[in-house]
Amino acid sequence: MLPLKSLRIMPRAALARQLSTGARPPRVLVTGSLGQLGSTMVSTLRAKLGQENVVASDIRKPARGQRDLGPFVYADVLNRRALEQIIVDHGIDWVVHFSAILSAAGERNPALGLDVNINGFQNVLELARIHGLRVLSPSTMGAFGPTTPKDMTPDLTIMRPNTIYGISKVHMELLGEYYCEKFGVDFRSLRYPGIISADSPPGGGTTDYAIDIFHAALKQNRYTCFLRPETRLPMAYIDDCIVGTMQLLEAPQEALTQRVYNVHACDFSPEELADEVRRQHSADFAIDYCPDFRQGIADTWPRTMADEPARRDWGWNPVIGTTDIVRIMLAKLAPAYRASAAPGRPTDEALGAEPVAL
Ligand SMILES: NC(=O)c1ccc[n+]([C@@H]2O[C@H](COP(=O)([O-])OP(=O)(O)OC[C@H]3O[C@@H](n4cnc5c(N)ncnc54)[C@H](O)[C@@H]3O)[C@@H](O)[C@H]2O)c1
Repeated sequence: MLPLKSLRIMPRAALARQLSTGARPPRVLVTGSLGQLGSTMVSTLRAKLGQENVVASDIRKPARGQRDLGPFVYADVLNRRALEQIIVDHGIDWVVHFSAILSAAGERNPALGLDVNINGFQNVLELARIHGLRVLSPSTMGAFGPTTPKDMTPDLTIMRPNTIYGISKVHMELLGEYYCEKFGVDFRSLRYPGIISADSPPGGGTTDYAIDIFHAALKQNRYTCFLRPETRLPMAYIDDCIVGTMQLLEAPQEALTQRVYNVHACDFSPEELADEVRRQHSADFAIDYCPDFRQGIADTWPRTMADEPARRDWGWNPVIGTTDIVRIMLAKLAPAYRASAAPGRPTDEALGAEPVAL
């Protein structure tokens, strides 16, 4: 078996140093920073810009360890005045807007999804106009829909999603482009595939199975998947996702030929992932399938995305494939399960205590 350290993966801190610009660091506000992607984004930004220059925020209470790592404030993106006060008080230059209600969570509560994803984003964008901020707000492959071509889906194509999440993300993309064109707001976005990570739990998306499967394999060596076995979807490991997000965030304006970019790292189906878990973890690993409403969402999404403009304009270059994802996830999660006396998923603290063994 290939040792983890031989994988062609750049540690986040080294990447952050490489991306250094030398100028006065911008002050960055990260909304939704306690979510699946936020904590890794905050630590990567702080390694590069300095702890004090990155203000983490959310509407949830951070764990004790997270609070000690740098500035944290309560910020509800639905409260524009309170958000403005944070931007003014902290001298914010850039907003990384991660607050969102994801696909499955949005179908469970469409009113909340509409409110947070549309009104929350409008608040951020309007404050960016008033205060001259750069805004990076991720979009998703969920912005595509049932009539979109499914293979090598290009940046510009039919976009008629039929989920609240997808509809709200198309609104975000178009409004961001409008504010950029009309008011000169420096809006940037990438359409993430499903993001896989071990350090923080997923937030209620349709690709969560590709994280849950590792917890289930380590806990009971069997998993019931909520998607059908052949459901192929685009995916990326979180390190590729965060590296790419940093690259787009820091790209010079003149390099950008568009404001929203597809990014694709790898793609697989549940049965292919289960085969790889069997190969690397246990030949006895068992999977069965009980598709629920998330199958209907997945059926409307691309199987693969074309991402040549992201590679050309700002250097998107993912290096972690399916085999590596399985190896990394098993290696990172196994010690926490061995150490966890309690039944169920180990605590975030137990998972976070594991060194980043890349
Ligand atoms: N995780 C993925 O696989 C994935 C895939 C495609 C796109 N994205 C996008 O990436 C971004 C980050 O996603 P994530 O996976 O970290 O999401 P997440 O659900 O894990 O985290 C979202 C965070 O937003 C916070 N939040 C909710 N309502 C809020 C409000 N009113 N004000 C402030 N914060 C609020 C939540 O408390 C949570 O911590 C989102 O824009 C999402 O659409 C994620």
